[in-house]
Amino acid sequence: MKIVLWTPLAEAVDPTLRNSLRAHRLREVRAPLDALTGQADVLCQADLLLVWTDAPSDVDWAALAQASPLFPAAGCVLLCAAMSAPQLRQAMRAGVRLALEWPREADLLPDELARLADAQPREAGAAGRVLTFCSAGGGSGVSLVAANFAVACALRRRERVLLVDLCQGFANSHLYLTAGLPARTVLDLCGQVARLDAALFAAGLVNVMPDVDLLPGPLDPAAAGDMTPAQIDAVLALACQLYDWVVIDIGQRFSPVSMSALDRSTRVNVVLQPTVPHLSATHRLVEMLQGLGVAHAHITAWLNRYDARRAALQPALLGEKLGCGPLLVLPDDPAPVAQSVLLGKPLPVCAAKSALARALWSAVAHVGPPLLTPVAPPAFWRRFFTRWMRENP
Ligand SMILES: Nc1ncnc2c1ncn2[C@@H]1O[C@H](COP(=O)(O)OP(=O)(O)OP(=O)(O)O)[C@@H](O)[C@H]1O
Ligand SMILES: [Mg+2]
Repeated sequence: MKIVLWTPLAEAVDPTLRNSLRAHRLREVRAPLDALTGQADVLCQADLLLVWTDAPSDVDWAALAQASPLFPAAGCVLLCAAMSAPQLRQAMRAGVRLALEWPREADLLPDELARLADAQPREAGAAGRVLTFCSAGGGSGVSLVAANFAVACALRRRERVLLVDLCQGFANSHLYLTAGLPARTVLDLCGQVARLDAALFAAGLVNVMPDVDLLPGPLDPAAAGDMTPAQIDAVLALACQLYDWVVIDIGQRFSPVSMSALDRSTRVNVVLQPTVPHLSATHRLVEMLQGLGVAHAHITAWLNRYDARRAALQPALLGEKLGCGPLLVLPDDPAPVAQSVLLGKPLPVCAAKSALARALWSAVAHVGPPLLTPVAPPAFWRRFFTRWMRENP
């Protein structure tokens, strides 16, 4: 990590501290804390601000609080001689991420720095691909498909996936992934967007599995109107830095908030059922998306609840009619879906062999870059004979 070590102290940096920072790139600045705000260019090039001081005064706390919007991505760590409970509270209020008594707690610093370095957003290039799911009619299965696709994607690609529920009706993505109601929703993050960082973001999520997190949607449709496009844009911008894939469920309502999601989307997925009314509404939705500038090639239609025995409309015909490339077909599979909702567990986990889970599993290969197929190592015997032939010409 690139660390700015900021100290108002005149004394030389003690060897223990210098030793703890050996693994990082260090830049030392000796100046009072109220000079922090004038050093935005120094701070924005760093990953972490480390402030080393003796006993911060009220002026120092105020200076830290004022500079907090400029803190680098990993935040600010404060080292000072003594830390009483009121001082700790002042530190937290000033936006300090971690406060340690120095040198009494010196042995904690290397581990804490390693932890903060691990939590750093990935470098550009690994930035999240944004897949938005929507539909033209209620009950098409958007939430079920988006949630379970997110899990299949994480399992199959072994990458980090975030599902963001931006439905402005009765958001219910949590039903397909977890048991119980989420304690926090996207509305909480929107309310704190001014001081949003990776730690605050993580605190607002439901961890579904090691590589899958859920940002639940507003549970109260009346409050959903409080989200603004700027807030959602800030939330999604951070999500893209922290995850390989961001899957967004915008449901069937197109509002300025869902437009923020569409603006960031690398692919828009339209879910429909194999009926004439769904087809006709989806056709208009695809036209609307194209009117908004989404290219044909970036729209994928998912034909959900398809049952070959009952379907009057054939997938190939529907794909042609919608004019957005081949459809992805998901079967009607009520029993595993009911089991998944009952247990509060994702379908690819609790019914991994079901027809729907298998279809989602194979859809992962069609969306996003091709999956890497492992190159089979040469068989033991082939390697053995090659070597034997070389040694016994
Ligand atoms: N492939 C499927 N097989 C069986 N049942 C399904 C399938 N897809 C959806 N369902 C059923 O439809 C219900 C509604 O799905 P879902 O909540 O995903 O719809 P939605 O399009 O998000 O609806 P809303 O308009 O309320 O947001 C599910 O709870 C499930 O019972
Ligand atoms: Mg839904």
